[in-house]
Amino acid sequence: MNVNLLVWRQAGPNATGRLVPYAARDVSTDMSFLEMLDVVNEDLIRKGEDPIAFDSDCREGICGTCGLVVNGIPHGPDRGATVCQLHMRRFKDNDTITIEPWRARAFPILKDLIVDRTALDRIVRAGGYTSINVGAAQDANAILIPKPMADEAMDYAACISCGACVAACKNASAALFTSAKISHLALLPQGQPERDARAVRMVEQMDAEGFGSCSNEGECEAVCPKGIRIEGIARMNREYFRASWIAKPERTDVGGGV
Ligand code: SF4
Ligand code: FES
Repeated sequence: MNVNLLVWRQAGPNATGRLVPYAARDVSTDMSFLEMLDVVNEDLIRKGEDPIAFDSDCREGICGTCGLVVNGIPHGPDRGATVCQLHMRRFKDNDTITIEPWRARAFPILKDLIVDRTALDRIVRAGGYTSINVGAAQDANAILIPKPMADEAMDYAACISCGACVAACKNASAALFTSAKISHLALLPQGQPERDARAVRMVEQMDAEGFGSCSNEGECEAVCPKGIRIEGIARMNREYFRASWIAKPERTDVGGGV
C-alpha cells in the first residue's frame, strides 16, 4: 500500500520545526511502523537528503527507547504497545499519518523526532540506591514476600521509562512514571530503609525538572504500553505526604546516599 506521511522535521534544539510531507510507496502491511520509516530513510539517503532522526533500540517493546506521537497518540493507536510494536496493517491504503515527537518542556527536542528524556533518568537517580545487600539470587529469594505484594511491585517495575505518559498529559506531568518507580520499591522489604527519603527526593526532582502537576486526566494510563495504573499516583502522593510528615529527609546530591 501507499501512505502519505507528515513528519516533524527540526534541525536542532533551537531551530524552527515544521511538518514535512513524504510519500511512502509499496509499503508491506507486515512491516513494523519503524521499518516503514527505515525504508523512507533509505530513499532519502539515496537522494542525498537528511534522513528522519528517530530513536529505537530493541524494537520489541522492552527498552523504552522508541517514542513517536502517531496521529496525535503517543505510541500510536494500539493499546498496551510501544510504537516499535505497531504494524502497518493497522493503516489503510492512502492514509495520511502524522508523526511528531513527544512534546513537553522537560523533553527538549534534539532533532526531528528525538527528544532528550534524561529528566526521567535524573528522577530515578534522585531515588538513590537500596542499602540492603541481597547477595546472590538464592539470598534474595530467602527474603519472603507475600505473592500479592510481589505481583503488585512487579506490575510497577514493568515501567520502561518511555515517557509516553508525559507526552499524553495536557500538563506534561511525569506523575505516572515517578509513581511507578516509587511504588515498586515501596512495596518490597528491600525498599523499606530508604522508603521515605526516596519518595521525597524523587517527587522533588520531578518538580525541579519542570514537569507539570497531575490533575487526574487519566491520559497517561490510556497510552502506557506497560499498563501502569493511575492508582500508583495516589500511592505516590500517600508516600510523599507520609514521608514529609515523619521527617523531611535531607536533600543529598542526586544519586548518592540516603
Ligand atoms: S509509566 Fe508507562 S508510559 Fe510512563 S514511562 Fe513508564 S512505561 Fe512509559
Ligand atoms: S525500541 Fe525498545 S521499546 Fe521500542
